[in-house]
Formats: sequence, structure tokens, C-alpha cells
Amino acid sequence: MLSKKALSLKPSPTLAIAAKAKELAAQGHSVISLSVGEPDWDTFAAIKDAGCQAIQAGQTKYGPSNGSPQLRTAVAHRTKELLGVDYTPNEVTVSAGAKFILYAALQMLVDPGDEVLIPAPYWVSYPTMVELVDGVPVIVQSDELSGFKAQGVHLEKKVTPKTKVLLLNSPNNPTGQMYTRAEIEGIVSFLRRHPQIVVISDDIYNQLVFEGEKVAPHILHVAPDLKDRVLVVNGASKTYSMTGWRIAWALGNESLIKAMSNYQSQTVSCASPFTQTAALTGLQACDAEVLRGVELLRERRNLFVEALNNVPGWRSGLPQGAFYVWADIRELLGRRWHGRELKTSNDFASALLESQYVAVVPGAESGLDGYLRLSFAVHERDLNEAVKRIRLFTDSLD
Ligand SMILES: Cc1ncc(COP(=O)(O)O)c(C=O)c1O
Repeated sequence: MLSKKALSLKPSPTLAIAAKAKELAAQGHSVISLSVGEPDWDTFAAIKDAGCQAIQAGQTKYGPSNGSPQLRTAVAHRTKELLGVDYTPNEVTVSAGAKFILYAALQMLVDPGDEVLIPAPYWVSYPTMVELVDGVPVIVQSDELSGFKAQGVHLEKKVTPKTKVLLLNSPNNPTGQMYTRAEIEGIVSFLRRHPQIVVISDDIYNQLVFEGEKVAPHILHVAPDLKDRVLVVNGASKTYSMTGWRIAWALGNESLIKAMSNYQSQTVSCASPFTQTAALTGLQACDAEVLRGVELLRERRNLFVEALNNVPGWRSGLPQGAFYVWADIRELLGRRWHGRELKTSNDFASALLESQYVAVVPGAESGLDGYLRLSFAVHERDLNEAVKRIRLFTDSLD
């Protein structure tokens, strides 16, 4: 009955791990989930109030498929502040979460057989999304030496006449690493040599940064003239702790934005109007709350990285943005837990969950084995307890 696509489709591994952790918790185990991709604090009060008022005011019917004009205008305004580039509201589209926006963008850019460059480590959903649109994911490997970032030279080696899209994500999920301006200059030179390539810049974490400016360095800071070749993707999920509200946006070339809006009109119809009004309040009235969130994350990051680096066999650098630690456990692979050899990061993460009820995401799911992704968007008390359990687990390995 099922299509070939359905048969090859895997569920999102991060959501699957989170579900397993919830199942263990429901059985009465004291689970600490460091696998989540969302802040642990509630959506800010002003946003929730705006959402409730919008419901009361009757914003409960279909709205424009490209989003409300008010939200698109506010998004253009905020993007100008962050990236320094002007957009008209017609160069903005709004939809139900960045995940769907990214998927809609790939649908509108990629023909069967077109290649999409994906630097690894990558967000778990990118390759699957590319396959779903009949494109070919081309993974660009990086390692510790290049700061887990793809430099222009690495991209150059993977280009073919079929290369259509480059998917960039900075700060990065899973590594928390951020491209520097110099690295971006290298990527811009690469893009100038290959004018057929469109960049999808997944900026979902670009205001959750702990170093330098309040926003992560961006291609459009370096090369605003590339505006028409860069699709900027951002949203309310991480910045305003609105993951369940499902609101995100894209800005770029008007014909691409129009195509994406048409696609949205034929698939999800529109993002919910009252959640758009709530997100508008986020953009217009929650800067102080966002900064407080960043401060809190910075404190947790410092505490967590230091504590983890004190566990023998665990090694991690300091993430510069987002809320993930990318821990190197290569030294521990090959050891045994209850007679079971832990060969891969998947084996390691499963054993850690089974033995100490700590849920983390294996790096193999992001295209680089030997590492784990641990979220520090959880309470300090849980971070301390998690480190205690990680130490117990590590000490118990043969
Ligand atoms: C890199 C990256 N892009 C996009 C998303 C999707 O965000 P949204 O909740 O807006 O769909 C996530 C969520 O985990 C992410 O980590």
C-alpha cells in the first residue's frame, strides 16, 4: 500500500529519542532529557496574553497563505536590524514552523536529481527533507580541525554541475559552533565562483549567541549584493520559546517567496492567525526577555561544559551559540557496558539512557559518529544531576 518514499522514511531521530525518554518517565523512572531542542522556560507572558486576546477577538479563521501583513512587516523590520538588508513585505512569507518553511523552500528550488550541499554535522532533518523532494543530499564533512564547519575549500570539492542549493546553519545544531566573518568571506568567494547556487541560511539560532555581536555573522553582512541568492529562514520557536506555536518565516527573492506562498496555499493553507499575532508581540515587545534567556543559557553552558570536561573520556569545546554541547566520546567507544560493546554513538546513547535514564542525541544522526549532542536548555539542577549520572555510567564501563 505504501509508496517507496513512505517505506524509506525514518521518523525524526530527536523526536524518537524524546518519545523514548517520555515513555521511560511514564513507567516511573527519573529521566533527564538532554535531547530536547527547545528552551525549558515558558513562552513569555506578553506573547501568551497576545495569543489569548487574539483568540477572543476572533482570529480563529483562515488567513493569508503568506502570513499577516503586520507580521511580515515586523519580520522585514527585524531582519533589517539583524542583517542590515531591506526587504519589502512581498519578499517575506510566514508559515507553520521553520521545518515546514525549509521543506517548502526545497520543494520550490530542487528538481529531481539536483544536489544540495549539506555541511556535516547537520541538523538531523536536512538530508531526509532533500530526499523527500527527490534531490540528492551531498554531505560536506568537517572535523574538529575546521571547527566542525565547512570552509569554502571543502564546499568547492563537492560542487558539480548539478549543485543547486547550499544549506547553511549558524549557530549550528548540533555543534553550537558559529561561522566567523572570515569563514563567511571564504564561503562568499565560493558562491561568487558558482552563480547557480542558492543558499538557504537557517538562522533559527542566530540571536542565541554568547560571543561577539548580538547576532551571528551572516552572508548578508559580508555580501548584501547576494540578497537575491540567499533565502533567510528564521522563526519564533527558539528565540521566543514558542516551539509549539509553529511560526516561522523566510525572506528572499520575490519569485521564490511567491512560489513558496503558493505551495503553502496548496498544503497547509496558512499558519494559524492567532499564533501569528502572538509572534508579532514577540518581535515587538520581548527583546529584554530574549536577552535574559541568552544570559541564562550562557551561565548554564559555562557550568555544563566545565563539569563534563571533568569526566574522564569526555571532551567538549565551548559552544558559541544555540543550546547544545557537542561532546567528543571517541575515547570511550569500544568499551563495554554489561558485556555489550559500545561501538558507535548510537550504542553509547542507548546504554546511557537504559542505565542512567539520561537522554542525549547520538552524533551519528548528524553525520559524524563519535560525538553526542547534549542540550543545556534545561534547569541547572538537572544539568548537575545529569553530569553525576554520566560520571557513574562512564565509571561503570569495562
Ligand atoms: C537547525 C534547525 N532548523 C530548524 C528547526 C525547526 O524549527 P521550527 O520549530 O520552527 O520548525 C530546528 C528545530 O530544532 C533546528 O534545530
